[in-house]
Amino acid sequence: MATPISIEVWNPSGKYRVISTKPMPGTRWIKLLTDQDCRVEICTEKKTILSVEDIIALIGTKCDGVIGQLTEDWGEVLFSALKKAGGTAFSNMAVGYNNVDVDAATKYGIAVGNTPGVLTETTAELAASLSLSAARRIVEADQFMRAGLYEGWLPNLFVGNLLKGQTVGVIGAGRIGSAYARMMVEGFKMNLIYYDLYQSTRLEKYLPIIAYGQFLKANGEQPVTWKRAATMEDVLREADVISLHPILDKTTYHLINKERLAIMKKEAVLVNCSRGPVINEVDLVEHLRVNPMFRVGLDVFEDEPYMKPGLAEMKNAVVVPHIASASKWTREGMATLAALNVLGKIKGYPVWANPNQVEPFLDENSVPPPASPSLVNAKKLGTFPDSLIRPPSADFICDIYGTNLALITN
Ligand SMILES: NC(=O)c1ccc[n+]([C@@H]2O[C@H](COP(=O)([O-])OP(=O)(O)OC[C@H]3O[C@@H](n4cnc5c(N)ncnc54)[C@H](O)[C@@H]3O)[C@@H](O)[C@H]2O)c1
Repeated sequence: MATPISIEVWNPSGKYRVISTKPMPGTRWIKLLTDQDCRVEICTEKKTILSVEDIIALIGTKCDGVIGQLTEDWGEVLFSALKKAGGTAFSNMAVGYNNVDVDAATKYGIAVGNTPGVLTETTAELAASLSLSAARRIVEADQFMRAGLYEGWLPNLFVGNLLKGQTVGVIGAGRIGSAYARMMVEGFKMNLIYYDLYQSTRLEKYLPIIAYGQFLKANGEQPVTWKRAATMEDVLREADVISLHPILDKTTYHLINKERLAIMKKEAVLVNCSRGPVINEVDLVEHLRVNPMFRVGLDVFEDEPYMKPGLAEMKNAVVVPHIASASKWTREGMATLAALNVLGKIKGYPVWANPNQVEPFLDENSVPPPASPSLVNAKKLGTFPDSLIRPPSADFICDIYGTNLALITN
């Protein structure tokens, strides 16, 4: 029997009971829910990761929707409990949803939301930070300084890698991978090679690489180049800095392993801001041990919150605790989008047509559109015709039959 869980309640007389398994940044998300007749219960238990039993206790016998976290195991057991409590909506406060069994949710008629469009730049900026920190040995040098070991400038002190003119490799060139690629090319004049299962139209359409290359040439500098690789191995062989940005699924589990590490350059930098299991961390620790000039920047770990034995001792690893999306604007935006996903389903609102363009939901000075910003199983729930869930134009919301309801003109 699970012990009682401590909660904070907002708008106790609200008609719809919505639970958040964690306190989330900002208060706008709470107001948006309470303004729409929701009673909001926020779990304040001092426990970093809630168990399935804890969440069942939170759901109780009457619950309309839940906002959950990527550390929680949202599978058959929880969706069945939510369904029994009359629930129809769940949203992860995250863009990735590898912790969610979407098929189980769909089986119980429960919508699954995520929060794309608000993490992209923040996460890409952390990947860029880790790239620089690893390449220029910032953490090692900081520790050296604080330890009182600095005795004066030396020609060989903490010599690292120059990024300019080197090649950056991106594996998984979706929203975040493309944003990172642009930062590294435009900011540090790196050449780009990327690998993705699909052509990254986002990247190829927006990267002003030809114009930028011409600009550099006109200024007497080497123009930057870019290409899509035929295989992931091509990226691993050619790139000096490689950043991983795919989703985590069975095709990307242990994508980086002993064999693939072996084909990378001995002085390469590897960055992971996607999900920990994309790298075989045991293989990585061994590779770091025998290749001291190979460096990594890691935001995520295979067995979070733990690191594999030996990783913490590696001077050539920069490690941070899964903070890639941790900017105030992004975290408040994630909370807002997650709350509106749940609210939209409870209220029977349509689904927003383009989940990558969610600015109208984030403007604090206006009422958000009456829509769920991003439901990943809208189609599977059988409510929305495929072609109209994500039309090419960003500016429509669709009703439950897929008819365009309104053109948002702001
Ligand atoms: N560390 C963090 O805090 C943090 C923050 C945000 C997102 N993420 C992770 O980053 C992931 C990517 O986010 P996004 O918004 O860019 O998603 P996205 O869906 O826009 O991009 C993912 C890309 O990976 C590609 N891909 C899928 N399987 C692949 C494979 N086997 N090989 C190569 N490419 C493959 C897809 O085609 C897609 O282009 C999320 O799923 C999440 O797990 C982590």
